Amino acid sequence: MTRALPGGALDRLRGAHEVEVWPGDLPPTREELVAGARDAEGLLCLLTDAIDADVIAACPRLRAISNYAVGSDNIDRAAAAERGITVGVTPDVLTDTTAELTFALMLAAARRLPEAVRDVRAGRWRTWEPGGWLGQDLHGARLCVVGMGRIGRAVARRAEAFGMDVAGIGRGDSLHDALERADFVSIHCPLTDETRGLIGAAELSHMKPTAILVNTARGPIVDTKELTKALIDGRLGAAALDVTDPEPLPADHLLLKLPNALVVPHIGSATHRTRERMADLAVDNLLAALTRPGP
Ligand code: DGY
Repeated sequence: MTRALPGGALDRLRGAHEVEVWPGDLPPTREELVAGARDAEGLLCLLTDAIDADVIAACPRLRAISNYAVGSDNIDRAAAAERGITVGVTPDVLTDTTAELTFALMLAAARRLPEAVRDVRAGRWRTWEPGGWLGQDLHGARLCVVGMGRIGRAVARRAEAFGMDVAGIGRGDSLHDALERADFVSIHCPLTDETRGLIGAAELSHMKPTAILVNTARGPIVDTKELTKALIDGRLGAAALDVTDPEPLPADHLLLKLPNALVVPHIGSATHRTRERMADLAVDNLLAALTRPGP
């Protein structure tokens, strides 16, 4: 295991197998990862561990990889499949929690909460101001949901309850047309070769200058440089990001200085209950895969 997980799931694993847990607070380096996993039959890893073809090749006994995440873009699934290695992820248990964070971001960006909090703390709240801290309504606004999988659909359901007009975008739909009409755009597709850089200069140029972009999927789906430029030039209203590229952003990154950019540290699934349920599922996946006879 590349990290200790919340809850008691680890005890179940320890009851059935010999378990080694990476003790660090930061991910193991590639060398440390390979050194730890070299003789392992099962690997329980995080989205911050790059399990590429070389790592897989360096672990000849590996039969199961269990990712503590629903996304699996950190794993070379083709290389795993070639070796007959089972790959597990943690869907469903984090769907609603991630949709809730998406809404928190959407509301915070629309109503400029970070700026308002900052101003109150700095003593800049002197009186009730008719023109102060004005933001945007969600009700009556059009939301474009890019990727109508489990989380995208959960966001769409919430948006409808908020009185938003929702347009779901999937493969084959015209993204540019949808972006042109959207007041809010929320990204929910997986990171693949097809979606890397999906929101770049051309897409940003199709968005309204007041539009708010929310990303709780994966950072590299949005081109960070182009996004930063669009926010600085006033070609985009605001961005609220749970994921970035690179991740984390360097502390002195320009994006972190902009009043219309809100960045949080990849916390879409970060509630006590959901992270424990993810741990249970990741351990279940590993146990199930390891009880199957090897190839
Ligand atoms: C995932 O599961 O893929 C999220 O990014 C973290 O929970």
